Amino acid sequence: MKTYISARFFMLMATVQLCRTKTGENKFSLVASSPSVFGYVGKDIVLPCALSANISAEGMEIRWLKKEKQNSIIIFISQENNENELNKLYQGRTELLREGVRKGNLSLLLKSVKISDQGNYTCSVITSEWFSDASLTLNVIATGSTPLISLDGHQGAGIGVSCISVGWFPVPQVKWLDGKHEDISVRSNTKFVLDQNGLYSVNSDLEVSPEDSDGIICRVSGVQRQSETFIEIREELFQSFRAWKSAFVVTLLFLLLTLGLLAVATVYWMKKRGQEKTAKLEESEKLLLEEKERLIEHL
Ligand SMILES: *[C@@H]1O[C@H](CO)[C@@H](O)[C@H](O)[C@H]1NC(C)=O
Ligand SMILES: *[C@@H]1O[C@H](CO)[C@@H](O)[C@H](O)[C@H]1NC(C)=O
Ligand SMILES: *[C@@H]1O[C@H](CO)[C@@H](O)[C@H](O)[C@H]1NC(C)=O
Repeated sequence: MKTYISARFFMLMATVQLCRTKTGENKFSLVASSPSVFGYVGKDIVLPCALSANISAEGMEIRWLKKEKQNSIIIFISQENNENELNKLYQGRTELLREGVRKGNLSLLLKSVKISDQGNYTCSVITSEWFSDASLTLNVIATGSTPLISLDGHQGAGIGVSCISVGWFPVPQVKWLDGKHEDISVRSNTKFVLDQNGLYSVNSDLEVSPEDSDGIICRVSGVQRQSETFIEIREELFQSFRAWKSAFVVTLLFLLLTLGLLAVATVYWMKKRGQEKTAKLEESEKLLLEEKERLIEHL
């Protein structure tokens, strides 16, 4: 029994010695080929991580961890050919590629990226005599819908337009450009709303004047992609507005004039009626007096 143990121990030491000489005492380490990657919501992403030397990682313990606020959670572990996902949030979504592992490629395939996957990840390798790790950041992005421009009708001295786009992450930038591609965003008012899926919607309002009749662009820009819509507001629209406005002014003036005339007429008529009344009164008073005098004469 004792000889058996020492024999095994000797063999183990020999293997370690062999490894040491073969790898040259921890001369290799883990590297994440890029410090940050971009993953689109709903799509798959590869979190890159590889041994710096071209050797097989089979039989090594490979761990993938996600950094949370205080600590790190293990999301994937590969040990003696057993692979386990150790977090509910990552269930059925993580995978190491066997042929990659044989070449020292420990990249993790993360399927169907979610907003909550955003953050820092660490891959690590543990053997009986060696440990190494590497970290990278996963930036989650979602490209929203093509902006939709709608006319809100006449507003102030021009026409109100609004631009709507949904499904962005992180918060996008909204820009309005005129026909000469000059930024006219200062004239706009933009609101962002976070929906229940953790994505942002934008709603931007702008008032356009006849000077913008050569067209305007609403451009929504995300981290890697942008989306824009061009709209031409025909001058007739402003003209019809102007025509409508002048028609309104003329009607208003006419109305005011009519009202004024009516008022004058009423005052005149009332005055006249008043005069007539007093004249009639005077007349009846005169008649009464005459009657009175006649009666006195008779008496
Ligand atoms: C890694 O080693 C394998 C054989 O062990 C070889 O086929 C392959 O070309 C090597 N790759 C690199 C990048 O050196
Ligand atoms: C490692 O494997 C992933 C897929 O699992 C692949 O996308 C990547 O190109 C590989 N990296 C290298 C250096 O071979
Ligand atoms: C992730 O790592 C980057 C770079 O090391 C760091 O700037 C950032 O604060 C980290 N984020 C989190 C959430 O830990």
